[in-house]
Amino acid sequence: MDRNAPVGVFDSGVGGLTVAREIMRQMPDEKIIYFGDTARLPYGSKSQDTVLRYSRQIIRFLLTKEVKAIVIACNTASAYALETVERELDIPIIGVIRAGARTAVNSTRNGKIGVIGTEGTISSGIYTDVMQQMRPDIDVTVKSCPLFVPLVEEGLLHDSVTDEIASRYLSVLKGRFIDTLVLGCTHYPLLRSTLGRIMGDDVTLVNPAYETALELKALLSGKNLTCDNGKTGNEEKYQFYVSDLAEKFTAFATSILPNEVKETRKIHVEEY
Ligand code: DGL
Repeated sequence: MDRNAPVGVFDSGVGGLTVAREIMRQMPDEKIIYFGDTARLPYGSKSQDTVLRYSRQIIRFLLTKEVKAIVIACNTASAYALETVERELDIPIIGVIRAGARTAVNSTRNGKIGVIGTEGTISSGIYTDVMQQMRPDIDVTVKSCPLFVPLVEEGLLHDSVTDEIASRYLSVLKGRFIDTLVLGCTHYPLLRSTLGRIMGDDVTLVNPAYETALELKALLSGKNLTCDNGKTGNEEKYQFYVSDLAEKFTAFATSILPNEVKETRKIHVEEY
């Protein structure tokens, strides 16, 4: 395996850019191939079979780019597909859920943790299971927030409509006296300021992206796969692919990543 090969990162849309951004910060030499499944978003309201099928197609596409490792930068796909696809692959693959769960368990003071995510992630029960395996006495309150993903995809990050919807969703968590809230969907860190204001200063918001990048770093180093040559020749260091609306994606990605995204390529992912 070529240690200077890119890392594949995927999500249903722009949410996984919050994870890609952390990888860029923590491992500036690593090359990234990002795929956002913008034609088939949202994943959060689809069945496990469907999300698994989509994930396998995306992984087959990423393998054609000779990636050395894959990050499922989507909680829904991590919940529904990671366990299966990791058995099918001979390169390392990680999701975002264990990293987020571990951070939350380590940061709670009163043992009461809230988790927000898509309907798929929340109904899978995976966060509660993983956190209670780590610490059985943890009290977990979960809440699905299905309108957050379209609000983010529409760029309504600071908008009164988003405020109103977030206040309604979060009221149940406020009543449970949680001191830690896991942003259990990679789109949600983009709403961080709104969510933080509503929950108040006493609630720690956990963004699994940071810990996921740390986990990737440790994984690559443990397998001698850390890039030792950040040079890319004629290739772009960060390459972006989507299944639809490439220009909209480029504009959004440029607004949240440290560097301008020059190009996003559209592919027919269902052919993989
Ligand atoms: N960003 C994804 C997640 O972390 C899913 C959004 C969606 O497609 O529903 O779950």
